[in-house]
Amino acid sequence: MMERKPLIAGNWKMYKTSAEAAETAKALLNLVADVRDVDMMIAPPFTALAAVSEVVKNSNVGLGAQNFFWEKEGAYTGEVSAPMLVSAGCRYVIIGHSERRQYFGETDERVNKKIRAALQAGLIPVFCVGESDSERESEKTFYVLDKQVQNGLKDFSSDDLTSLVIAYEPVWAIGTGKTASSIQAQEVHAFLRTLIEKKFENPLANSLRILYGGSVKSDNIAELMAMPDVDGALVGGASLKAESFARICRF
Ligand code: 13P
Repeated sequence: MMERKPLIAGNWKMYKTSAEAAETAKALLNLVADVRDVDMMIAPPFTALAAVSEVVKNSNVGLGAQNFFWEKEGAYTGEVSAPMLVSAGCRYVIIGHSERRQYFGETDERVNKKIRAALQAGLIPVFCVGESDSERESEKTFYVLDKQVQNGLKDFSSDDLTSLVIAYEPVWAIGTGKTASSIQAQEVHAFLRTLIEKKFENPLANSLRILYGGSVKSDNIAELMAMPDVDGALVGGASLKAESFARICRF
């Protein structure tokens, strides 16, 4: 089986001014300077991208954005494009986070367009999927994930998707302190990998990094990472402090 390099990603959501973000990024770089066997990424708010980019350039920590609009440019007040993210220093972009699906009308169709635009701009898409509490309760988890993946990755070939990262974030585990158990995470990650294998065949399924997200902390990361199909984490709350995020990166 091929080795997948772990990716630990921090989603800072709507936290931190640009000065605060740059300060946290600086502190983080000091704490993880010697980490080589793990890819690391932080995604601050748009307004902090430029400042954080200055801090992390030429370092082992990559910069990501949390969202964008799929058109390259145009009369789209309030939006930011993928080429603009690249010019601000981004290598990654989070797409289809459940908070965007829940509060900002993100649909699978929009997610599909964004994945295409991100890849065209040379960004690594971190494509988020996950079921809600009621969907899990009513045993619709696999049905919901299948639909999100099929629609989100509609009309791509496996060659298009070599850089793709999927993040499994059960909505009931986000910001709740209720982490999926490592067994629950492994079960879903294995399901997602098989789904990708059926849709795109083996090499992509084997090399695809699937991150777990939802109340990841320094005290549960090791157990999650011990699972064969968990290739990293997308961390919210615990990524906001350099010390706790560095501990997670050093799982
Ligand atoms: P928490 O780690 O705060 O639960 O957030 C997870 C998340 O939504 C990361 O994208």
